[in-house]
Amino acid sequence: MDVFHCIRTRRSIRKYKDKPVVWDNVVEILQAGKYAPFAGNIFNVKFIVVKNEAKRKAIAEACVQQYWMQDAPIHIVVVGEPEKAERYYGTRGVRLYTIQGAAAAIENMLLTAHSLGLGSCWVGAFDEEEIRRLCSLPEHVNVQGIITIGYADEAPSPPPKYRIEHAMFFEKWWGRVEGPKTAMGMWSPYVKHVVTQTHKRIKKHSKKLVEKVKEKFRKE
Ligand SMILES: Cc1cc2nc3c(=O)[nH]c(=O)nc-3n(C[C@H](O)[C@H](O)[C@H](O)COP(=O)(O)O)c2cc1C
Repeated sequence: MDVFHCIRTRRSIRKYKDKPVVWDNVVEILQAGKYAPFAGNIFNVKFIVVKNEAKRKAIAEACVQQYWMQDAPIHIVVVGEPEKAERYYGTRGVRLYTIQGAAAAIENMLLTAHSLGLGSCWVGAFDEEEIRRLCSLPEHVNVQGIITIGYADEAPSPPPKYRIEHAMFFEKWWGRVEGPKTAMGMWSPYVKHVVTQTHKRIKKHSKKLVEKVKEKFRKE
């Protein structure tokens, strides 16, 4: 599946079929998480795969009673190890890089699940202490997110998204205007073509106009 198509068509799935996921697929999803970019290539996350039904129910309960989660045959609890990043980057490693690395890994895993024909959802609402207890996590790690994986039993419509023009500025905050050639080029080759042609015509006609004015003055 083409990457952009995969990104565009991925949806959060909250209804799952009662069908197990092939283990190879789970491993491929975890590999995708591993291949995410990490600051300084310090890989400081661990993935806890939860298949046990009772534990999945308990996790769903701990995720502010999102009971739909328990029907997903696989949960992946993404655990951060902030100490590793702190050693190299101090507070920035803890407050920024660990979270960003985990988020990059999660997105990679969601996209890979989708490319394998599986549904998934990123779950961020949870009682951390309860997840910590359920997964026997040591003190020095923290819960970054939980992913549900399984075969989708729904096909949600795409949620509304901003038009890209509303999400982009040029050169500075609220920078709306740029020279037409570069700005238009970013949006569409056709618009760029029209702008270039118009620019050429204006140049050609203004040249003719200047010649006419000059000729008129010469005659007078
Ligand atoms: C940090 C984060 C936390 C999220 N937490 C939850 C959650 O607890 N429960 C849930 O159902 N969806 C959760 N989502 C999924 C979003 O609701 C979903 O991505 C959004 O509505 C857009 O829909 P889409 O994923 O289909 O594009 C979370 C997404 C992110 C990025």
